[in-house]
Amino acid sequence: MKIILAPMDGLTDVYARELLTSIGGYDYCVTEFLRVTDTLLPSRVFLRRFPELKSNYTPISHTKDGTSIFLQLLGSDKNALAENAAKAVQLGANGIDLNFGCPAKTVNRRNGGASLLQYPDTINQLVEAVRKAVPTDIPVTAKMRLGYDNQDLAHDNALAIQEGGATWVTIHARTKKEGYRPPAHWEALSPIADLLTIPVIANGEIWSVEDYFSCRQQSGCENVMLGRGAMVTPDLARQIKATLANEPIQVLKWSSICQLLEKLYHLMLANTALKERYIAPRLKVWVKWLMPSYSEAELLFPSLKKINDPHHAIQMIKEFPSISS
Ligand SMILES: Cc1cc2nc3c(=O)[nH]c(=O)nc-3n(C[C@H](O)[C@H](O)[C@H](O)COP(=O)(O)O)c2cc1C
Repeated sequence: MKIILAPMDGLTDVYARELLTSIGGYDYCVTEFLRVTDTLLPSRVFLRRFPELKSNYTPISHTKDGTSIFLQLLGSDKNALAENAAKAVQLGANGIDLNFGCPAKTVNRRNGGASLLQYPDTINQLVEAVRKAVPTDIPVTAKMRLGYDNQDLAHDNALAIQEGGATWVTIHARTKKEGYRPPAHWEALSPIADLLTIPVIANGEIWSVEDYFSCRQQSGCENVMLGRGAMVTPDLARQIKATLANEPIQVLKWSSICQLLEKLYHLMLANTALKERYIAPRLKVWVKWLMPSYSEAELLFPSLKKINDPHHAIQMIKEFPSISS
């Protein structure tokens, strides 16, 4: 059974990938989407989105803890997608994921992301073009939603992805129109998983171990991708794997969360290309996401949000006492 850390633009960057996979439970990560128009992107653009392609990461295209990372591409020009996918693999990418789920207006206006779900034939051609452009041992995967306005083409799109040669398909169990509005329609994945011969990875609204089991029962998919749940509960993947292995769950304590945030601070500080003024906002974003799981985060956030100095911010986090034992 596999758990994938979701691509989340602005959230699951190199730092989040390193921190979350260091906790354990993840088998793969997918980078935030890299937009491809009609040109071959320069190497620096790949490296900015996917710093784990740099030679100081060993093995390349893995997190420090050894979790494999795929590059996500978003676009609708098949030649450009194929060329950029081939370049990414030359740079060391372990796999290519194609984005057919992004609901953003700017992306959809240019016929990228979820708008492609209206055209299964185009999706099929894009997957096939990328599949042909990269070596056979490099997985090409795709991420889709159940549809654009409705679910009518869900099966056609999933089949189009499979027939294009994808290794697996992740399905965010909602249409583009539904955005991020609960519920996720886990039950709609079950007939698709029955129809396909490639694995279907279920995605959407898995916030707890209980949600994992409900999703698995309703979708028939044992493999899942975790998005926002991973930000709220950083050890969610580890909790799911422990439960499946009949092992006791060691929930991450606030003191361990503080150590993670300190690591985040040091990683950002060590990056000379990152301006210091960006550090405190990132720490605040993390603490905000943690609020539903940690009352410490909820109590800390009102004072933390006023702080712009990163050294002061991390001090405040470190000094905040644990509430539970
Ligand atoms: C802030 C944010 C950014 C996202 N960026 C991407 C992205 O770059 N590529 C992508 O395929 N999906 C993206 N998604 C969608 C997630 O990967 C995932 O499909 C969605 O959040 C549902 O899963 P969840 O309920 O576990 O969060 C994004 C979601 C959020 C909340």
